[in-house]
Amino acid sequence: MKIKNLIYYSVGITLVAASMVTHAADRKIETAPPEFLKMSNPNDVDDVDKKIMKNAKKLYKMKCKKCHGSDGDGKGSAADDMEVKPTAFNKPGYLKTRKDGQLFWILKKGSKGSEMEGFGPGTDANLSDEEMWGIITYMRSEFTK
Ligand code: HEC
Repeated sequence: MKIKNLIYYSVGITLVAASMVTHAADRKIETAPPEFLKMSNPNDVDDVDKKIMKNAKKLYKMKCKKCHGSDGDGKGSAADDMEVKPTAFNKPGYLKTRKDGQLFWILKKGSKGSEMEGFGPGTDANLSDEEMWGIITYMRSEFTK
């Protein structure tokens, strides 16, 4: 009888664990509204002002690295115990599939149900649109694979 309970218990745990894994893998980041999707980055990634890039690099280190990692691999020091993992920007092909306006929208407003907060005007970070476009330029230039 006891062994039978133990078996039920193990099967239960396995099922719960399996459903958690599937859930994380199935997660899709919400799609930005059309007015954002049609935006394009005011900076040219291949020919960007050095000052913009320097400032963006600094902001990324200060505000993004602890989750998204210095290589953009999503493995920053704070990422370990997060249920919804930070996006790995350097996954081959990933940034190519993401529109500027999509990245900008999430960066500005955050991603519901995850620890990705909004960084735009009026938030704690209070970054300006220019600063956020700078960070996106930095990400595209450093992490696109
Ligand atoms: C506290 C951890 C944390 C910090 C700090 C953080 N992020 Fe995130 N970020 C996440 C998580 C978690 C996700 C995944 C959200 C989801 O799955 O809904 C994410 C998702 C994103 C996305 C969405 C990618 C896509 O494909 O749509 C962008 C863009 C992004 N982060 C940019 C940034 C930038 C830029 C910074 C710094 C200004 C930053 N994040 C700081 C945790 C963080």
